[in-house]
Amino acid sequence: MNTNNKEKVVVVGAGLMGTGIAHAFASSGFVTVVVDTNPASLTHARVSIEKILGDGVRLGKVSEEQAQQSLANLLTTSDLNEAASGANWLVETVSEQLAVKKAVISQAAPLLAADAIIATNTSALSVTEIAASVDNADRVIGMHFFNPVHKMKLVELVRGLATSDEVVVRTRALCEQIGKTSIIVNESPGLTTSRMSALLGNEAMWMLQEGTATAEDIDTALRLGFNHPMGPLELGDLTGWDTRLSVLRYLHQTLGEKFRPCPLIIKMVAAGRLGRKTGQGVYRYADGKQVPGSGLKASAL
Ligand SMILES: NC(=O)c1ccc[n+]([C@@H]2O[C@H](COP(=O)([O-])OP(=O)(O)OC[C@H]3O[C@@H](n4cnc5c(N)ncnc54)[C@H](O)[C@@H]3O)[C@@H](O)[C@H]2O)c1
Repeated sequence: MNTNNKEKVVVVGAGLMGTGIAHAFASSGFVTVVVDTNPASLTHARVSIEKILGDGVRLGKVSEEQAQQSLANLLTTSDLNEAASGANWLVETVSEQLAVKKAVISQAAPLLAADAIIATNTSALSVTEIAASVDNADRVIGMHFFNPVHKMKLVELVRGLATSDEVVVRTRALCEQIGKTSIIVNESPGLTTSRMSALLGNEAMWMLQEGTATAEDIDTALRLGFNHPMGPLELGDLTGWDTRLSVLRYLHQTLGEKFRPCPLIIKMVAAGRLGRKTGQGVYRYADGKQVPGSGLKASAL
């Protein structure tokens, strides 16, 4: 862990992802300023980061001193101008709305250090379009983190049309500094991860609909045959089939026929069987746990 780093990182958006991203930077020695328009999000983010660090100390992953140093590196504010002033990095992770992201970046860009890099954690919006809101679009890059950030090693770095080679190289080095492994993706719908995951989840639903195997066996196939930590149907229940469906519709529209959503997904969403969050998806859930043998049966379709 590097605690001598005096570079300043501004993380804009203190939600689920901003919290994890701020933890990653603060615990890697960066002066980390978290900005949010909602003061409650800032308080919640600090409490969550304290909990991650506290758990780390209990598990022996970080020392008490390192945890205290990480917290000392963390600042929170609602004032974007003050936070952005002279910062070396800005990571935008506000709500997934193009207009909000553009407004944040165009306001902050002139205040950052001259060679600062601006990263956006957008899941699906165009990095190129977001970058068009600033004068030097070459210094804007996508930095797509995964939830929960403190457990997930991957960052997809997304090259927009104008992103420079130097910015890619520097951002890869930044990922290493915070203990992440990066891959480089040219801007494209679904990047690599969402695109592959959508296809796999859709195919699993086609197999369930056709009665190829039971839900439990389809999930077991991927867990034990390919060492996936979860089967594709369990994962869809966790993500939510409504989210899955909107991703598939977008990929179908942009990338073509192979992403046409399986009719069973459309039917489940219409029925309100969205997954864990509604207590029922492909499986039923009681007290947050999957009910054994509850997988949707082909005979019921
Ligand atoms: N949730 C995920 O699994 C995931 C994974 C990868 C990427 N992302 C992307 O990360 C981004 C954030 O997602 P999230 O799940 O953390 O959302 P979230 O709703 O938990 O948090 C968004 C935060 O942004 C704040 N915000 C909104 N407008 C703002 C503004 N103008 N200035 C400052 N703060 C503002 C909100 O108050 C909120 O606290 C989105 O672009 C999302 O697509 C999400």
